[in-house]
Amino acid sequence: MRTFRAPRGTRDLLPGEAARFLRFAEIARGLTDRYGYRPIETPLFEQAAVFERGIGEVTDVVEKELFRIVPRTEDGESWALRPEPTAGIARAYVQHGLRTWPQPVRLTTTGPMFRYDRPQAGRYRQFWQFDVEAIGDAGPAIDAEIIELGLRFYAEVGVKGAEVLLNSIGDPACRPAYLDALVAYYRDHAASLPPTERDRLERNPLRLLDSKDPAMAAINAAAPRIVDHLCQACAEHLAGLRAHLDALGVGYRLEPGLVRGLDYYTRTAIEFYVAGREGQQQALGGGGRYDGLIELLGGQPTPGIGFGLGLDRVALVLDEQAEGDPSGAEADAAGGPPDAPDAVVVSADPADTVGRLRTATELRAAGLRARADLGHRKLGRQLESAGRDGAHFAVILGDELTDGQVQLRDLKAGSQRLVGVADLPRELKRGTSQHRHGTRDSS
Ligand code: HAM
Repeated sequence: MRTFRAPRGTRDLLPGEAARFLRFAEIARGLTDRYGYRPIETPLFEQAAVFERGIGEVTDVVEKELFRIVPRTEDGESWALRPEPTAGIARAYVQHGLRTWPQPVRLTTTGPMFRYDRPQAGRYRQFWQFDVEAIGDAGPAIDAEIIELGLRFYAEVGVKGAEVLLNSIGDPACRPAYLDALVAYYRDHAASLPPTERDRLERNPLRLLDSKDPAMAAINAAAPRIVDHLCQACAEHLAGLRAHLDALGVGYRLEPGLVRGLDYYTRTAIEFYVAGREGQQQALGGGGRYDGLIELLGGQPTPGIGFGLGLDRVALVLDEQAEGDPSGAEADAAGGPPDAPDAVVVSADPADTVGRLRTATELRAAGLRARADLGHRKLGRQLESAGRDGAHFAVILGDELTDGQVQLRDLKAGSQRLVGVADLPRELKRGTSQHRHGTRDSS
C-alpha cells in the first residue's frame, strides 16, 4: 500500500502546534488593532507578473523559489503562489484605488506563504508570516512606528532578546552611483567570484552582498558600503528615523551590509534577530521601505513601508528559549494543554449518548468548553480519556439524574460532589476560573 506524506518542506500543524500559531495570529491581531492597522486578505496566488515586477526578476525568490501554476490553456494566465504578501497588497492598493482613502493606509495580514526553498530547520516551502504595511507615508516617523511594532510583537509572544538591524539602501537618486562603485569593486575580484555570483554581477550586483555562498563572505566584508554613498535626502531620512527610534527608546543596530533579498526596497531596510544569532538562516523577520513598488505595479508614485515576521521561526526560537528555562513563557498555568476542555460529560450508562450530548450542548450554550464522550465505553474508560484530554472537570451522569443532580468530579483536585443540573454552568465557571488564576477567563 502506498503511503502518503505531506510534501517536502511543508509541515502539518497538529492541534497543539496549530493552536500556538493561532495564538500568534491573535496577538498580532490585537496589537495591530491597537496601532490602527486594518486586516486585509489577498489571494494566495496572483498573476506571476505581480511578483516578477514587484519583487524583481533577478532575485532568488522569483528566479528559484516561485511556485508557478501551469496555465490550463495555452494562452492562459500564468499564476504563482504568493512567496510574500507585500506585492499582492500593493496590487490591491492600486486595483481598488486605496489612494483615495486617508493616507497612509495601514494594513495587516497573517497567513501562509510559499517558496520553493531548500528545506531545513526554519526554512520551509510553506511558512507563516505576520505582515504589516503602511502605504502612503514617506516617513521617517512611520518607519519608527513599524519597527517598534515589530519588536513589541516579539515581546508579547514571549521571544526574549529580539533586536532590529537597520540600514538604508538609498534610492534611485543615489543607488546608481553606488552600484557603479560596487560593480567596479567586484570586477576587481572577478577571479575569486563563484560562477553564479559572476553571472549576477552583470544582472543585479546588489544581490551579491547578501549571497549565502561562504566564498563571498570575505569579499563582501570589504565591499563599498551604501551608507557611505547615500544622497542627502536619504541620509536625512535615515537620521530622522534614528532620531525617532531614540525618542521612543527603541534600541537598534546599524548594519551597513544589510541589503535584503527583494528588489522593491528603497531607503529603510530592517531585519529582526535574536541577539547573538544573526545570520541568513535565523532572521526572525524583515522588511523595509518600498517607495517605488506601487508605481511599478501601475499606480501613482506612492511611498510605503512594512515588515513580514516569520511565525515558524518564532515557534522555533520559543522552543529553544523554553529549553533553557522550564518556567517557559508559553506554559499554561493550569499545567494542561491551553485548549483543554473545561468539562467532559461522561455517563455511568454506556448506552446513554443522548443524555451526554444534551448536557454538553447546554453547557456549550452557556459558554463553557464542554465535550461529550460519545463512545459506548465503560465509565472508567470515559473518565480516563477525560483526564488524558486535560479536562478540568468530569460531569458524571448517573442514577442521581432522576433527582436533577449529577456528580461533578474535579479531575485536577481529585474531589467529587453532587451538583444540581441547573447549577452546573455556574459551578463550572466558578471552578475553572478559580483554578486557572485568571489565565483564561472562561466566564
Ligand atoms: P522576507 O525577508 O523575504 O521579507 O521574509 C520575511 C520573513 O519571513 C523572514 O525574515 C523569515 O522570518 C520568514 N521566512 C522567509 N522565508 C521563509 C521560509 N522559507 N521558511 C520560513 N520562514 C521564512 C518579505 O517577505 C517582505 N514581504 C517583508 C516586507 C513587508 N517588506 C515590506 N513589507
